[in-house]
Amino acid sequence: MPEITIASVSDALEAIRKTRQVRQYIDGEVSDEQLDTLLEIARWTGSSRNTQPWRFIVVRDKATLEQLSALRENITWVANAALAIGLVSPGQNPPHEAYDEGRVTERLLIAARMLGLGAGTAWFGEPEREAQAKALLHVPEDRTLRSIVAIGPYETSKDPRPTGPKPGRLSLDELVHWDTWDS
Ligand SMILES: Cc1cc2nc3c(=O)[nH]c(=O)nc-3n(C[C@H](O)[C@H](O)[C@H](O)COP(=O)(O)O)c2cc1C
Repeated sequence: MPEITIASVSDALEAIRKTRQVRQYIDGEVSDEQLDTLLEIARWTGSSRNTQPWRFIVVRDKATLEQLSALRENITWVANAALAIGLVSPGQNPPHEAYDEGRVTERLLIAARMLGLGAGTAWFGEPEREAQAKALLHVPEDRTLRSIVAIGPYETSKDPRPTGPKPGRLSLDELVHWDTWDS
């Protein structure tokens, strides 16, 4: 089995641990090389029965990003990202496709962090908003476009929203059961 060589395993693990949802972007670009890397990493994500249900729409047009960001109050920050990647699924097997979409999203978030970029997932929410997003990106009506991943140079990963979710994480004591649920 070939080994994966990375300069420092602990640096890589730290980058994964520190990957956060980014909502405050600054002007700047995602280079073609960075974008290729991100798409390659996305491409190699595992999926249910290796169906690779995703298709990626790279949105770089500022006006389109603004229109997408205006579809829902919780995603207005998408307008300021350098680009966003729309995740389109066939709409044939919603539970599997949603799981696979989560996997590819997380890889994009982590890869962006490792490239020194910020990234955040933005969900369109209700069916009407998803339909509007599909219309904007010319996605056929029978496909699913639940979310896009915004990516770009960023200022901070702090959540600027006054009513955002509580930050931080549960402790391992709260999360982990040993051997059985009632341990
Ligand atoms: C399914 C899902 C949908 C999300 N949708 C949005 C969204 O529409 N807008 C937003 O700002 N954050 C959204 N988030 C990001 C979460 O708020 C974020 O992952 C959570 O608050 C933890 O943030 P942190 O990793 O920065 O600590 C979503 C996350 C998930 C997993």
